[in-house]
Amino acid sequence: MKVPFLDLKAQYAAIKPEIQAAVNNILDTAAYALGPAVDEFESNFASYCHAEYSAGLNSGTSALHLALTALGIGPGDEVITTPHTFIATIWAISYTGATPVFADINADTYTISADEITKKITPKTKAILPVHLYGQPADMDAIAEIASAGRLLVIEDAAQAHGAEYKSKRCGSMGDAACFSFYPGKNLGAYGEAGAVVTNNRATADKIKLLRNHSQPSKYYHTRLGYNYRMDGIQGAVLNVKLRHLERWTIRRRAIASRYSEAFAAISLYKIPSEAPYSRHVYHLYELGLPSDRSRDKLQAYLLACGIQAGLHYPIPVHLQQAYSDLGHREGDFPATEKAAGCLISLPIYPEMSAEMVDYVIEKVVAFDR
Ligand SMILES: Cc1ncc(COP(=O)(O)O)c(C=O)c1O
Repeated sequence: MKVPFLDLKAQYAAIKPEIQAAVNNILDTAAYALGPAVDEFESNFASYCHAEYSAGLNSGTSALHLALTALGIGPGDEVITTPHTFIATIWAISYTGATPVFADINADTYTISADEITKKITPKTKAILPVHLYGQPADMDAIAEIASAGRLLVIEDAAQAHGAEYKSKRCGSMGDAACFSFYPGKNLGAYGEAGAVVTNNRATADKIKLLRNHSQPSKYYHTRLGYNYRMDGIQGAVLNVKLRHLERWTIRRRAIASRYSEAFAAISLYKIPSEAPYSRHVYHLYELGLPSDRSRDKLQAYLLACGIQAGLHYPIPVHLQQAYSDLGHREGDFPATEKAAGCLISLPIYPEMSAEMVDYVIEKVVAFDR
């Protein structure tokens, strides 16, 4: 049996008529950049996140960049975030001219540790940027408390956390702004690049809508440095269709995760993902922990030989990336992050996986221990 890491063709096959009708409507009306489908998606997605406003953009990276920009972050400011993330989180801070400051993660949830954030606050700190990594929310109450004591902004990186909840609050509704990616492989994925900022603050949403469109309140009048970060009409149409299926897909992801965790819990070689009591984890990725990078790499090779594709997210932490060598970090600076980077393997998890595929992955992961 073959189990790919992800199967976007299978997802398309299941919703093809709805997608084709929605895309045909864009082709018939020629509303290619922004337009009614994007407006409709913005309103639907804000409601889905239990938030007031949303702005459709051309990527999650742009969403982070514009959220930080609209909230006034720039040169001389420090933004505290996690080194255990996809590098785009950090690019966005750098794009504004601000300095990324890293705080280590909690070794169980893999999200930023509130205690570590506290140690990194300086007079230059302007914002905290937690990442709801793998689909599990960061500890938002603890972060909100630190932020309110230090009058800091909170920007959520919710690129992997569509529909995830912290104490029944949806990711996207808790910070000053939250940033989503709709990269095709995400829990809610476009058919190309797309992203959005979600916020409860009208002025922030309006500012982002201006910035994404060349800072152009009326044609050929430009009020400040602007960007072309608009969402495509086709992506808005696709996302509107897929949003209707997202809750069902999330339930299926959670069911697969719980089958995996039940099967692996008793095996001492493995550390299963811990779902914090406060969270509804949406399992964008299912991360299995091994004792070392050697055993992790061996498991990956063994699974591949069995026809199962597993992934690594993320094997080199951002503080050890060449691109950020000027920050002066070295190995050992963030032990929990470095351990996660060396020991975690991502098993296939997506709603279209059949029960047989899930059984097969379980059988092989269990067999590896023997
Ligand atoms: C945690 C995180 N932040 C930011 C991004 C950037 O999103 P995009 O690829 O849509 O620019 C991603 C997506 O890969 C991500 O996983």
